[in-house]
Amino acid sequence: MPPYAYFRKQFMPLAEAKVGILTHALHYGTACFEGIRGNWNDDLNQLFLIRFRDHYERMHDGFRILKIDPHHTIDEMTELTVKLAEKSGYREDVYIRPLAYKSSEAIGVKLHDLEDDFFIIISTLPAYLDSDKGVRCCTSSWRRVDDTMIPARGKITGIYVNSALAKTEANQRGFDEAILLNHDGHVSEGSGENIFFVLNGKLVTPPSSDNILMGITRETVIELARNELGIETVEMSVDRTELYIADEVFFTGTAAHVSPVLEIDERRVGDGKIGKVTKELQRLYFDAIKGKNPKYLRWCTPTYSKLVQAKRS
Ligand SMILES: Cc1ncc(COP(=O)(O)O)c(C=O)c1O
Repeated sequence: MPPYAYFRKQFMPLAEAKVGILTHALHYGTACFEGIRGNWNDDLNQLFLIRFRDHYERMHDGFRILKIDPHHTIDEMTELTVKLAEKSGYREDVYIRPLAYKSSEAIGVKLHDLEDDFFIIISTLPAYLDSDKGVRCCTSSWRRVDDTMIPARGKITGIYVNSALAKTEANQRGFDEAILLNHDGHVSEGSGENIFFVLNGKLVTPPSSDNILMGITRETVIELARNELGIETVEMSVDRTELYIADEVFFTGTAAHVSPVLEIDERRVGDGKIGKVTKELQRLYFDAIKGKNPKYLRWCTPTYSKLVQAKRS
């Protein structure tokens, strides 16, 4: 089956969904997107879309920042996503990318008096970070953009130049991922992940005021830690040197899942092995997002109707 996209108000083969080279968003980064996971559960013969309404709610915050009118409500976007996933028929984990953008074919830097459009694509995604083995990181020489520059709380395409600079620098220096600091030297996040620490016996993560994307996986992990491990997460600013003395460090993200960080700036984190809290949270997280824990099925929206399931099996 060819991959499909939802584009210009219809479903079509991905290969036919094209934009013109004058498209505003291509020139100026004026678009807002999301990354949503669909996880295949073989036992239930079902593809679960994970917290996808939460992703669309965050996306709508981005629309307000970028003055985008996507011409679709959150309800319509969620319905279209289920339809696209069902039509595509995957029986493996997938990644869904909705994107709303300034679609006018016009030169000129601004946000107003431009047309907007919206599309959704669906594909598979190779492992983003090695969540089984853990990752090696460096602190980036690039600083995280400030809310007064490009607001990190919006998943705005233009902001990802900041992430790409940091990621490429890290990879080309032989590290798996970069950790970005704020202009004031506090830890912000990875190039595409939020970051957590076990520090002096507490589970700690930087607050929204440290220019992070308010991650949905971050929220998931905070809830799992509270409900299942009885651990409250402390949201507080973290110094660079606290990266070096933390007992455990891990990243969270839709693409990155829960990924242990085992080395930072050529210093071992803790004893250099995956820590106890990280391991427990990984287990809880994977069970929840695969639809294996009935308590968290509210995060998992089934894609395939019974009729389609019957036809497939
Ligand atoms: C910069 C950045 N931070 C954090 C995250 C994690 O957010 P979420 O858990 O909602 O995927 C992402 C991924 O979307 C990201 O791009």
